[in-house]
Parts: sequence; structure tokens; C-alpha cells
Amino acid sequence: MSTKYSFLFETSVIGNLEIPNRLVVAPMTRVSAEKDGTVGPLMKDYYKAFAAGGFGLIITEGLYTDQLYSQAYLDQPGIATQEQALSWEPVIKEVHDRNSVIFAQLMHAGALSQFNRFVGITKGPSAVQPLGEQMPFYHGSGPYQVPKAMTQQDIDAVIKGFSEAAVLAKNAGFDGVEIHGANGYLLDQFLTGYTNKRDDLYGGSIEGRLCIYREVANAVRAAVGDEFVIGFRFSQKKVNDIEHVWEDGEDAAKQAFSLMRDCAVDYIHTAEPNINDAAFSGSAPLSELAKKYSGLPVIANGGVSAPETANVTLKNEQADFVALGKIALANQDWPAVVKAEGILNTFDFSMLSPIANLSSAKNYFSLN
Ligand SMILES: Cc1cc2nc3c(=O)[nH]c(=O)nc-3n(C[C@H](O)[C@H](O)[C@H](O)COP(=O)(O)O)c2cc1C
Repeated sequence: MSTKYSFLFETSVIGNLEIPNRLVVAPMTRVSAEKDGTVGPLMKDYYKAFAAGGFGLIITEGLYTDQLYSQAYLDQPGIATQEQALSWEPVIKEVHDRNSVIFAQLMHAGALSQFNRFVGITKGPSAVQPLGEQMPFYHGSGPYQVPKAMTQQDIDAVIKGFSEAAVLAKNAGFDGVEIHGANGYLLDQFLTGYTNKRDDLYGGSIEGRLCIYREVANAVRAAVGDEFVIGFRFSQKKVNDIEHVWEDGEDAAKQAFSLMRDCAVDYIHTAEPNINDAAFSGSAPLSELAKKYSGLPVIANGGVSAPETANVTLKNEQADFVALGKIALANQDWPAVVKAEGILNTFDFSMLSPIANLSSAKNYFSLN
């Protein structure tokens, strides 16, 4: 067994949870659910393979949180009903049987919804058409709809959706929830000046644009109690704007990450194209800023393939965990292979083509 990358394999802690190592599967939408948003037939073995391959923590793909405006994609799983939540029980059991930990990612699409079986329109902070075009590998095409601006009642329903989904996740046996505050989806639309033109308490200054994060965090914490793990994901880039940099620079990082500490959140997950890049001109990487301003455990994600990169990030205390996305798709057993000093596969976008679902990818995965 390799001792070369010892930092990867240390036991670590988030909240009251012990995580067997510092290797995390990043949340990845695979549009492979049943039509009613319950877990589809290929999903159990897909998630099981990551646990069998040695990942200490698995974060699920983004699950929609309500039967209103949260759904993003055709065949996306939800956690808006008891039935949807309970359909995860066999997945959770497989993961737990292999001593890994699993968090549900709770996601509201806002203006980036490409498909919603409950409603025909989209809603976001303001009536601003999203940049870019819908993603073909999630069955989308053409421009995004122009969303309707959310009313206070809509915002209250969003917050209720997150807290009820968190309770359903807890009762189904998930070890924690990660609230998706990144990548251009609803919460990030509130954080971003050009998609948030509101002049009420949810808009304006960085404090105002973070208001919904505070309200969601507080509502979820009140709903699940003190012990259940809650994390938030942040990014600067968006699926429909890969250039974006927070307009308030490091002050945004300070405000956002210290808010997480103040709201009794248990961890922060940062996603950047490359975990070692400076977040802002001349600054530390985003994960390091998250540690500095929150004092919480931080998961860093983005652009990692080689074990050396992950190991150095951990060794330098830039983060407490490293989350792997695409390279984990190519190597569901990345931790086991690295431990055995084996040879890793390279990722190839054909694994997500033409649709990013598990049936397209069947040849690449340990699926029956
Ligand atoms: C197919 C696919 C689906 C994704 N779905 C999600 C998602 O549901 N939630 C999320 O926060 N990020 C999602 N991401 C982003 C990844 O979590 C990760 O941030 C990104 O792939 C960069 O990490 P990597 O360089 O290790 O791949 C997705 C990425 C891919 C490739």
C-alpha cells in the first residue's frame, strides 16, 4: 500500500461525522431518475461503485426540492416528496455497508430550469434572461426562458422547500445535506449582481444578495436540529457563464463564508476550475479563503486528476477534503487505485455523450 499520498487517506471530521478519508465524489447530475423523480434502476450500482472504490464521502447529484419551480432537468431526481426521499434508502444502505458517508445535494434551478414537470414557466430573483443556452446533454436546446421575478411568497416557498427536503433527506438516512449555492442556480442567481436586480432585502449590496443564503441556512438548521450535517456549495463560475468572478472580490468571500459560520453551517464546498488558482487577482484560492473566513471544514473541488495535486492541497491546508468530479467518473475506484499505486483511466467527454445519463455511460461504469 502506498504511503506516498498519506494526506488523502487520513480520517477526518465534518460536524459530528467521521469521514474515513479526505476523498469526496463531487455532485454530478446524471438525469437517470424515474419520471416521477424517484431513484432510477441504474443509480444504486452507480453510487455503490464509488463507495466500493474507496471514496469516504459521496455527494449526490442535485435533487430538486419542491413541486414548484425547483426542477432543472428532465429525468432529474427530486427530494420533494416522501416517496422520492425513501427511494434513496437502498442507495444509502449500499454506501453505508461500504463504510462511506453520503450527503444529498439540494438544488433549486431558478432561471436555469430546462424542464419542469410541475410548471411551464421559470422563476428567478429578477426577470433577467440567463446568459448562454440550455445544455444539450441534459436534453436542452436553445435559449433559456426569461424568468418571472419571485415574489416574497415565492421566496418563502423556496425556503420551505429546502427545509422540508432536508428533513426528508435526514429521515431517509442521508448523513447530511449540501445546499447548492453555486454554479448559476437559484441561490447563486441571488448572489450575482447581474441576475439580481431587486431593490428589496434580497438585493442590492452583498449583504442583501446573501440574505436568501442566511434564511435558507437558518430554516434548514431549525428543521433538522443541531446534529445533522449541513453544508453549502459556492462557486464563482456558472454552468452558463464560465468567466464570472465575484464582483465584490475578496469582500464577497469574507461576507459569504463568515455568514456560514454564523449560521451554524458545518462545512463549505468550493468549486473552481482549478483548486490552486487564485480566487481573485493575487489572492489565495477560494477554498483557502473559505477556511480563513469561516473556520469550518472545507471541501475543495475543481480540475483535480492526479493524486499529487490533491495531496499537496491537503498538505498545504488549503482545504480539508478534495472532491473529484470527471476523473471520478473515469475511475469510480480512484482512491483504491491510488492506494495500490495503480494506473488511472483518463476522462473522456464521450462518457457523457450524447446525454449525461447512466444508460449512455453504461459501458464505462460498474453497472449490471
Ligand atoms: C456530468 C456533470 C454533472 C454535474 N452536476 C452537478 C450537480 O448536480 N451539482 C453540482 O454542484 N455540480 C455539478 N457538476 C459540477 C461538478 O460537481 C464539479 O464541480 C465539476 O465537474 C468540476 O470538477 P472536476 O474538474 O473534478 O470535474 C457536474 C459536473 C459534471 C461533469
